[in-house]
Amino acid sequence: MCTRGWPFQVRRAVGLSLRNEISVLRLHHCGDGMGRVVPPLFTAETVRLLLEGRGSVSLDLGLSHTDFHLGEDGVVFPDGSEIGLDDLRRIEGREGAVFFVRDGVILQVAISDGHFYKLVPTDGAPTLEIDGVRMHRTRGTTPDADARMKLEAVGIPRGGRGLDTCTGLGYSALSALEEGAALVVSTELRHQVLRVAEMNPWSRGLFEDRRLNLVLGDAYHVVDALPEGFFDFVIHDPPRVSLAGRLYSGDFYLKMKRVLVPGGRGFHYTGEPGSRHRGIDLRRGVMRRLRQGGFVDISYSEKIRGVTFSKPR
Ligand SMILES: C[S@@+](CC[C@H](N)C(=O)[O-])C[C@H]1O[C@@H](n2cnc3c(N)ncnc32)[C@H](O)[C@@H]1O
Repeated sequence: MCTRGWPFQVRRAVGLSLRNEISVLRLHHCGDGMGRVVPPLFTAETVRLLLEGRGSVSLDLGLSHTDFHLGEDGVVFPDGSEIGLDDLRRIEGREGAVFFVRDGVILQVAISDGHFYKLVPTDGAPTLEIDGVRMHRTRGTTPDADARMKLEAVGIPRGGRGLDTCTGLGYSALSALEEGAALVVSTELRHQVLRVAEMNPWSRGLFEDRRLNLVLGDAYHVVDALPEGFFDFVIHDPPRVSLAGRLYSGDFYLKMKRVLVPGGRGFHYTGEPGSRHRGIDLRRGVMRRLRQGGFVDISYSEKIRGVTFSKPR
């Protein structure tokens, strides 16, 4: 049985079949050191390579590569698993999506429940689209490279404790651990996002790294339950302001300030929403409210499209 330090655990991931049926996939879990088993994942690009029959392919969205043999009926992998040509042809040409096969049915890593959550391959780590809006920068960078840059800009103290207000696929939280944090608390509003993350090999650490404590809830309220002066840094990477206005409010900035240690650092993604003019206004508003909230060392970086700040010592 799996046990974790924080009272939250994701057990299932959902796949959307090509016929738009919802199907639930139960992943095998950790706790006994065996790790979770995410099925082989296929994209249009993987299928192109498989049908060409040359070289090796990645079945985990680029983290590793495997050899294969293309036969008359399909492709065989070194562990003996196979995928038929008919299945490959169904995925062929379906760009911008990730698929897996379960019980002979091709499913997309996506959830449709009134909103549409979908894993989208990139040149690096995949991104998540919610109702067609990408949750990471993918132009001129990759989601994983972008996460690393943000964390470097904050400057993570070795052994520090971090708050990541918006988990998403967990790249910020996991980068913070890679940069030397000892503990990260990460909050996500939507369980659907975590269920998609569970199918993403790049998000594995979210569910397996015991330094990472996932909380399902609205960051606006969850932060109130966290101890005062506890965190050395906060990563605030909310969706665009039209989708999460309260996370851009002076109120919320005061909540972040309360849980930071004196001298604690922060990063607030502001991005380039809407027109250039509106983007600048948003950024100015964020910086003004941070200043009014008593933060210092407030500066915008074009490179990471966001604002870094500190709580006074
Ligand atoms: C831009 S993404 C975060 C990406 C993340 N930094 C990563 O590395 O993958 C924003 C996330 O915030 C979540 N979210 C939206 N409103 C929230 C709230 N009030 N509290 C916590 N999470 C929220 C969204 O569901 C989405 O997954």
